[in-house]
Amino acid sequence: MPIEKPTIFNTVKEIRTRLQEVRTQGQSISFVPTMGNLHQGHFDLILKASELADHVVVSIFVNPMQFGPHEDFDAYPRTLATDFGALSELPCQSIFAPTVREIYPKGVSTEIDVPSLSTILCGQHRPGHFRGVATIVNKLLNIVEPQYAILGKKDYQQLQVIETMVSDLLMPIKIVGAETTREPSGLAMSSRNAYLSEIQRTLAAELFHSLNTLAIALAETRHMSPILKIERQRLTDAGFIVDYLEIRNADNISATYLEATRAVILVAARLGKARLIDNLVVHLTH
Ligand code: PAF
Repeated sequence: MPIEKPTIFNTVKEIRTRLQEVRTQGQSISFVPTMGNLHQGHFDLILKASELADHVVVSIFVNPMQFGPHEDFDAYPRTLATDFGALSELPCQSIFAPTVREIYPKGVSTEIDVPSLSTILCGQHRPGHFRGVATIVNKLLNIVEPQYAILGKKDYQQLQVIETMVSDLLMPIKIVGAETTREPSGLAMSSRNAYLSEIQRTLAAELFHSLNTLAIALAETRHMSPILKIERQRLTDAGFIVDYLEIRNADNISATYLEATRAVILVAARLGKARLIDNLVVHLTH
């Protein structure tokens, strides 16, 4: 059956009107928020969204509020025409692609913050980032009012922030975490991989290699400090600037994972112009 082309909406009013019709027809809605420059990782989120509900909404919005003053907001790849083309081949019925003015007509006077999860790990290196993420995702969820929102597990901390926000604010939405899509080399797919040269792209797979080395070690021992130190140094020697390489409790990303049933190994490192993140969840046997 040929896939129906999605309709593009640029204003809050238009998409709300359309989604009200969808709800009146008794259809359920699932939502995939993105910043565009769509790749296979996003396509997998959209396929998952289409398994969960009748009507899939994808947003494309490069959110200025989640970028620091010296970060890549201006350079972030904006590929709207290609993205629309790709979405036409996917089970996506509505695209929401607003302007910054549409989303922040009066600037920012209200912010959503989940401080306990937002000041550690990436939050320590990107102050205010998760406040920007939580605020935009809250706005988008208020606009779309989906039953399901699908987010990638690659952004592990982001997923935790959003799950916590939705739960704390009693939002009637199920947040679904989807598995990370990887290149054959193991490199997690990300729009920021576009910043890598070919040589750097090959090297970037070393992050996943480190995560796997640590996961194997974690199956044998809880005495991980020396092994973490070796892996940090190995990545540094290979040319990465490592922001962090840590093991945390997978349920709440707290530092105490020793009693946990699942641990998550998280890495963030800069390579050339790209800041790359990845993670691996490990089930612990005690
Ligand atoms: O993961 C992203 O692409 C963004 O952080 C999100 C969730 C779309 C919010 O801008």
